[in-house]
Amino acid sequence: MILLLFHAVSMGLAFSTMVSAIVIARYFKTKKWWLKAHRILNIIAVAFAVAGFVFAFFMVSSTGGPHIRVPHAALGIATLVLLLVMPFLGSAIFKTKDKKAIPKLKKVHRYLGRIAALLMAATIVAGLVLAGIL
Ligand code: HEM
Ligand code: HEM
Repeated sequence: MILLLFHAVSMGLAFSTMVSAIVIARYFKTKKWWLKAHRILNIIAVAFAVAGFVFAFFMVSSTGGPHIRVPHAALGIATLVLLLVMPFLGSAIFKTKDKKAIPKLKKVHRYLGRIAALLMAATIVAGLVLAGIL
């Protein structure tokens, strides 16, 4: 039960931190601190999500149940994979030597980032239904 609480709270913190980072990238680009805040908040969000996954993994192991048994778990894995890719995609915007690739990288990062947030929201709803809260 305590692992479920830790799992849900970590994932809730990951989601709210990520949404704050996305709102900053969307509406605060005129501030000189926007990129630093966007980057740091998203790295914190990914760290919370990884911690949340570790809690889920031990929670499922402790019941002896098979892993990735329910749709929520599959959605969760897809969300986590996308979340882990996003920081690399964001850094690639600055690291690429091919200047012509920058607008494309920005576009892919923007859209995949939004998809990651939507997928995460869907996973949370599925998790709340699974836990009998919704
Ligand atoms: C985006 C946020 C979330 C992600 C990425 C996520 C991810 C996962 C993953 C990957 C598992 C399976 C672990 C395994 O099989 O080893 C899992 C299990 C579970 N999650 Fe989440 N979760 C999230 C949010 C939530 C929330 C908010 C709740 C509800 C309070 C919740 C409730 C559960 C429950 C009850 C299980 C156990 C399922 C089982 O018995 O197989 N999750 N989650
Ligand atoms: C989980 C990690 C991340 C997610 C989910 C994410 C998501 C997003 C989203 C949704 C946008 C578009 C906001 C909008 O205009 O509507 C955005 C913009 C941006 N992000 Fe990220 N981001 C992440 C990490 C990073 C990192 C680590 C960096 C840089 C080191 C970065 C650099 C940028 C830049 C430069 C933009 C502006 C792109 C443009 O001008 O179109 N992001 N991010």
